[in-house]
Order: sequence, then structure tokens, then C-alpha cells
Amino acid sequence: MKTIGVLTSGGDAPGMNAAIRAVVRTGIYNEIKIMGIKQGYNGLINGDIEEMELSSVADIIHRGGTVLRSARCEEFKTEEGRNKALTVLKVFGIEGLVVIGGDGSFMGAKKLSEAGIPTIGIPGTIDNDLGYTDYTIGFDTAVNTVLDAISKIRDTSTSHGRANIIEVMGRDCGDIALYAGLAGGAESVIVPEEDFDVDEVCKRLIQGKNRGKLHSIIMLAEGVGNAYELGKTIQEKTGIETRCTVLGHIQRGGSPSAFDRLLASRMGARAVELLLEGKSGRVIGAKKNELFDMDIDEALDVKKEFDKKAYELTKILSI
Ligand code: F6P
Repeated sequence: MKTIGVLTSGGDAPGMNAAIRAVVRTGIYNEIKIMGIKQGYNGLINGDIEEMELSSVADIIHRGGTVLRSARCEEFKTEEGRNKALTVLKVFGIEGLVVIGGDGSFMGAKKLSEAGIPTIGIPGTIDNDLGYTDYTIGFDTAVNTVLDAISKIRDTSTSHGRANIIEVMGRDCGDIALYAGLAGGAESVIVPEEDFDVDEVCKRLIQGKNRGKLHSIIMLAEGVGNAYELGKTIQEKTGIETRCTVLGHIQRGGSPSAFDRLLASRMGARAVELLLEGKSGRVIGAKKNELFDMDIDEALDVKKEFDKKAYELTKILSI
């Protein structure tokens, strides 16, 4: 294999740049030409591709976002779109591909490997919603960003004696709400994986208030519902003034944490090694701080396990 392509696809995540850097530098170290594909699968369809040098990835390890840019590409879901991509790969002489993204991006990677293009997936999404791996690149940074917001909101929550609902991203996965909530000492954590009773949330608020507690933080994962509607209900039921903050895309940006940079660097390098070993249709994961690779299909079938212990702990620690 002489030429490898790399792309980032789907929602961006802090640490994607560190992964791109590792792919480029490991490739060049092994005398492989690395082609950077812009805007995810769009670049593959439109031929928006450039050779990357050592200097293309200088000074990016600490930057959020992705220098290759990203996109969710509808055209690639069609056979016609994928055929265009296969032609482009041939034209640019790309013999292997590294795809950095979430489950949607992995579906595309699977199709390409089935079409005979050796492809390796690296999990990059703040959601941490891939069941086969303990961590996805970007999750740790997002949790830290949310934690910072919780601390700030807690200050004003205390000053005003209010309840504050903080809605966080994660799609159908409650990990960001759960871990940021646990680390931030939230009074309630509401996630899609567990049923919740609004009366129970209200009871906790009132108990806290009666004990002289001045602030209340309620973490709400976006997959459950709307923070403003919940806030209205809580205020009506408890009489406690309630405010809502939807953190939104702030969670997707920012300089990646040390954890994400390390994970991304190791995974990026491993992806190139796997391609050089002749592997295809594999994704890289991390369990107990060890990297491993597995078949894309099998990986996509692994059901995400919810950390029930951590969830129960949030309840114990917020009595
Ligand atoms: O998958 C990452 C994510 O940030 C989700 O948490 C969120 O639901 C979604 O992407 C938002 O997507 P977009 O940036 O396309 O609005």
C-alpha cells in the first residue's frame, strides 16, 4: 500500500485533529503518501482531496474542530454517490482509507470496505454512544466543558436560590449528562436510558430547599426532551424559580483534553498500522486503556451498556 486517505465525518469532536496528525505522521514515517479528504464523504464524492505533508498537521494537536472539516453526507448513502466516490479513490490512487467519526460514518466505512477499499474506522464523537468501545474521541473534553459550565451556573444558582436545568448533547446516549452530572454534583440526572419521574425530581428539590440548600442543578440529556418544558413543570410544581441553559454546540468545540489527545494519537497511529498489515473493515476501540480492533459489523451490533452504578451513585451523593 502506497497511498492512504483520511477523512473526518459527522459531528466534529475535540481530538479529531490529533487523530489526523497521528495518521499523517505515522503514514509519512512509513513512507506512505497521505491524502486529506475534505468535508467527510462529500470530499470523496467531489474529489476535494489534497496531499498532506508533515507541516500540514503542525500546530494542530491542541486545536478543536477538524482541519479536514466535516459533514453529514446524504449522497454517500446512495449507491450512485458511493460509485462516484470509488471512481475518485481510483483517480487519486488511494488504496486504503481511515474514517474518523461516529456510527453513521462507520456505516459508510463498512460500505467502502465491502466494495474492496481497505477501510479502518476511528471512533470520534462527543456522544460516547458506541457500545464496543469504552471511550470515543471528544467525549472527555465535552464532559470537561460541561463541568466548567456546571460550576459557573452553580454560582448564580446559589446566589438566587434557583433550580437550574442544564441540557446537554448526546443524542440517544446519556453519558455526557451522567458523567458531567456526577462530577459536578448535580441534584438530579435525567437520561434516556432510565425512566424518570418529575415528581421525584421535585421532591428532591423541595427536600434540598428545606435543608437550606441554595442551589439545585438538574442535568438533562437532550435525548429525553426539552429543558424549557421541564423547567416550566418543575417551577409550577415546586414554586422554586427555575432557569434553563441549553449548552448546545459549545460542547463540540475547544482544545481537546490530554485524555482525548492521547486516545486520538494512539488510535490514529494504530489505524495506519492496521492498513499496512492488510486489514480492512475494522474499527479501533479502547477497553481498560488498551487499544483493540474489531470487525465494523460486529462493533455496530454491540449494544451500548449504560453505567447503572454511576447513575445510582448520582442519587446517593445528592441526598
Ligand atoms: O453526534 C454529535 C452531536 O453533537 C449530538 O450530540 C447532537 O445531537 C448532534 O450532533 C447535533 O448535530 P448538528 O451539529 O448537525 O446539529
